[in-house]
Amino acid sequence: MEQTVYLETLGCQMNKLDAELIRQRLGQEGYRFTLDADQAGVIIFVTCSVRQRAEDKVLSKIGQLRRRHDQQKDLILAVAGCMAERLGPALFDLHPQVDVVCAPGRIHQLGELIARARHERRRQVALNDPAEQSALEDLDASRRQTDADHPFMAYLRVMRGCNKFCSYCVVPYVRGREVSRPPESIVAEAQRLADRGVKEITLLGQTVNSYCHRNGTTTVRLADLLARVHEIAGLERLRFVTSYPRDFDERLLAAMADLPKVCEYLHLPAQSGSDRILAAMNRRYTAGQYLDLIERARQRVPGIAVAGDFIVGFPGEREEDFEATCELMRRVRYKNCFIFKYSPRPGTRADGDLADDVPTETKRRRNQILLDLQEEISLADNQAFVGQTVEILVEGPSKNPHLDEGRTGPADPAYSRSLGRSGPADSGSIQLVGRTRGDHIVVLQARPDRIGRIVPVRVVRASALTLFAEPVR
Ligand code: SAH
Ligand code: SF4
Ligand code: F3S
Repeated sequence: MEQTVYLETLGCQMNKLDAELIRQRLGQEGYRFTLDADQAGVIIFVTCSVRQRAEDKVLSKIGQLRRRHDQQKDLILAVAGCMAERLGPALFDLHPQVDVVCAPGRIHQLGELIARARHERRRQVALNDPAEQSALEDLDASRRQTDADHPFMAYLRVMRGCNKFCSYCVVPYVRGREVSRPPESIVAEAQRLADRGVKEITLLGQTVNSYCHRNGTTTVRLADLLARVHEIAGLERLRFVTSYPRDFDERLLAAMADLPKVCEYLHLPAQSGSDRILAAMNRRYTAGQYLDLIERARQRVPGIAVAGDFIVGFPGEREEDFEATCELMRRVRYKNCFIFKYSPRPGTRADGDLADDVPTETKRRRNQILLDLQEEISLADNQAFVGQTVEILVEGPSKNPHLDEGRTGPADPAYSRSLGRSGPADSGSIQLVGRTRGDHIVVLQARPDRIGRIVPVRVVRASALTLFAEPVR
């Protein structure tokens, strides 16, 4: 039991990658993993601090482990990830049952910290330290595992940290300053992933298009990196997330237009449509500049799908600011949007300087209005796909065979039946799920031998969240 680990991950793709690396490293050190926390001698939470809710969720899970920790004397409870850096040793005061606090910049030492906590019977804490960058790079470069659930797709970290300091955001504080990984190391990792059968790679960074690696007189930007990774045989699709509007240059648009493996997809958060709020957020662009960029992208890369993020209820957001956000959403016509209610983060500029003055009820209402508006846009734009043939990478069996009964009203029952796992549509066929180059989710009834392949399908029906398709013979 001592060597058995239960690991739970919250937060973004950065955390999921960190969790994969922790799993790999601990596996090499002789640990085994269990999905049953009750069977574990080590419990690890990889935590997120981006909103208070993300912290509350894991703090309550940690709280529930107090009694067990009192009973099982050798149990080690480790808190890794962004909240470990944000709260540091204060976590021991909040929850005395915590044994290890390990920030994102120290995950290469997690095994050592666990061993020391156990043998010295003393709490261990390791916070971010810029001196550890080369050890972190070694850990990233050592990556061999991929996500078992999605063997044909992988995220690949190209940079760590963030330098933007948007006034509401905790990420630069918990993940540290921006560091771009060496291009050779990234290309080697992409090659290894392709050798293992990965067909689609998503390059990952908090502001991925700010990627910039200097070595002597050569500077490698994201456009150059895409061109290098593009050369790898076996790889069929490339994406990159998340882009920061101000750092988007013509060379990157040209790379998207010219490199056939680079998908017609951008995740480009606007956060707000009001110039006054954008300035208070320290985003350093206006709604007009953002719209210009979208227009240039649509000219250079026809059919490009754009995903976005918005925060509602930022301090001082008045009705007219919110209206401007709705207007931006209508003009961009996003493929999908992530919408968040402002959550004050201690230590950030917005929290220090501005009162969280938008009432909870107003935040809730604005959030719902944006969700409804986006749903209307997604539904209309998805319906335009009906009758078209699109290319999808088939990811695997659909985990949720009733996807089509989403939020857009009841599905056509006959079609639902034909998509059901037990449906008699075609002997040996099951419900599969895949994605288009524009990242639209597609569900189809087909034989499982299509999994892992890129195939053309014809869209026969659409909801706001999903395209329903049939194989093209
Ligand atoms: N680096 C990415 C994403 C960072 S966090 C980017 O810049 O786009 C993901 C999203 O969480 C952000 O885009 C933002 O919309 C939201 N977010 C960040 N801090 C927040 C806060 N304090 N309250 C509510 N939402 C927040
Ligand atoms: Fe946070 Fe802004 Fe950096 Fe994104 S760009 S991680 S929102 S500070
Ligand atoms: Fe990601 Fe949350 Fe950290 S969004 S970078 S895990 S604060």
